[in-house]
Amino acid sequence: MRKPFICGNWKMNTDRKSAVALAQATAKVAQEVKGVEVGAAPPACYLEAVLAAARGTALVVAGQNMHNEAGGAFTGEIAGPMLKDLGCLYVILGHSERRHIFGETDEFISKKVHAAFKFGLKPILCVGEKLEERQATQTEAVVRRHVTAGFAGLSKEQAAQVVVAYEPVWAIGTGLTATPQQAQAVHAFIRKLLTSLYDAALAAEVRIQYGGSVKADNNFDLMSQPDIDGALVGGASLKADGFAKIITEGARAKKV
Ligand code: 13P
Repeated sequence: MRKPFICGNWKMNTDRKSAVALAQATAKVAQEVKGVEVGAAPPACYLEAVLAAARGTALVVAGQNMHNEAGGAFTGEIAGPMLKDLGCLYVILGHSERRHIFGETDEFISKKVHAAFKFGLKPILCVGEKLEERQATQTEAVVRRHVTAGFAGLSKEQAAQVVVAYEPVWAIGTGLTATPQQAQAVHAFIRKLLTSLYDAALAAEVRIQYGGSVKADNNFDLMSQPDIDGALVGGASLKADGFAKIITEGARAKKV
């Protein structure tokens, strides 16, 4: 059984005080809603404060990005061992903002995925097409490229630990959510692809989150889909009440 996983990606938002308050409120929900794994990915400078608030609770914490090298002359970057040392369990890799604003390539992201495992972190691998790619019926080709590159060279044991986040770029921060049917179709495609890259048992184990304008009033329908195992939530994860509702709606959809 895949445990549903709902994670907030705070992006470059919050300040120290609001980050701690949000972490405390989210940790409380994580404790209450047992059947769902709940995560938060705060800005790097607030990781320590958020990890302190999460300590002793079920809330798991993720980095928003990392470099693939263990350390060295990479001004402004954060290394996997640093995230691990602080107490992070996960790291988001290949987010569309990293791919499209900062020019990260599939090759670079693949190196980071391998580095995450080397340094004891689980990757949340983001994949997804841009609007013009969807309009040109390239969705499956783009997602295939992202997933194939992201899983390249991973053992079956490692692959089972990857969380995939399908985030259509046109749905991120736009209020334009993919319909549950559109999202389910791509999630099923990813699972089929994992079956061909590995096997059906592995594909059945990998958790696939949906991301892109997830809110309290649409997460039930999204997570009611059989291949949608959770959500990676941007803007709506910044309000404690709304994020709590997203989590309880996800739990209701999965009947946990
Ligand atoms: P929004 O929920 O703000 O659309 O962002 C989604 C996202 O990019 C999460 O990683």
